Amino acid sequence: MTAPWTLLTGDCRAVMPPRGPFDLIVADPPYGDTSLAWDRRVDGWLPLARAALRPSGSLWVFGSLRSFMATAAAFEEAGLRYAQEIVWEKQNGSGFHADRFKRVHELVVQFYRADTPWSAVHNAVQTTPDATARTVRRKQRPPHTGDINAGHYVSRDGGPRLMRSVLAIRNCHGRAIHPTEKPVALLDILVRTSCPAGGLVGDWFAGSGAVGATCRLAGRRYVGCETDAAMAERARAHIAALLPFPAGDGA
Ligand SMILES: C[S@@+](CC[C@H](N)C(=O)[O-])C[C@H]1O[C@@H](n2cnc3c(N)ncnc32)[C@H](O)[C@@H]1O
Repeated sequence: MTAPWTLLTGDCRAVMPPRGPFDLIVADPPYGDTSLAWDRRVDGWLPLARAALRPSGSLWVFGSLRSFMATAAAFEEAGLRYAQEIVWEKQNGSGFHADRFKRVHELVVQFYRADTPWSAVHNAVQTTPDATARTVRRKQRPPHTGDINAGHYVSRDGGPRLMRSVLAIRNCHGRAIHPTEKPVALLDILVRTSCPAGGLVGDWFAGSGAVGATCRLAGRRYVGCETDAAMAERARAHIAALLPFPAGDGA
């Protein structure tokens, strides 16, 4: 299954708005947590991203708690509402401070348009095939909710179970082409949850193009943007070299 993709060179604030509307925007901006030259927080992109989202769309943003606390007002001012977050646990991490816990996780937070109810947002919640057999009975309702029949659902061993919000997934250490490259296994969960098949994903801070690689494999259309021209070129080569899995015939 292939889907069209393009990765543009430039500033996402100028380049991405006309490319929408997007079913899903993935954004992995510099967090602005350190004094490193490349780690400069980017201002002004949130209202543009909000305007480029379909009403049923959502925005998944990578960051640290520090970066989200520093930018919380900007999300609200842009008309974006918090939905939920995932904790990505890595097998190793950064140790900027000798006197603090070694940081082995990142946050990925989902937002949606404040003028849209959550029920209208595309949300194909992912499951894992590891349920255990049990019967779950609906909790007793208080009398004022009316006469609701007792209900239950039955799960079976190996059946679907709602995916958990803490995901332990190996990072790309040793094979990454970008210093903060995100693993396709993690991005795949975001893309399948929040973008319908054949839908359009916008990747506003593309880096290695890992989101583009994910979209090719998952059959979603993709527009990415990276400001560093040399990195954008490597990202294009990275995505182009990735062959989609051939359609299986069961043999
Ligand atoms: C945290 S990295 C993204 C890594 C990416 N998610 C991956 O998996 O490889 C952030 C990227 O945003 C780029 N960037 C910074 N400001 C930008 C802007 N205004 N427009 C587009 N890209 C920008 C940086 O050059 C950097 O490559």
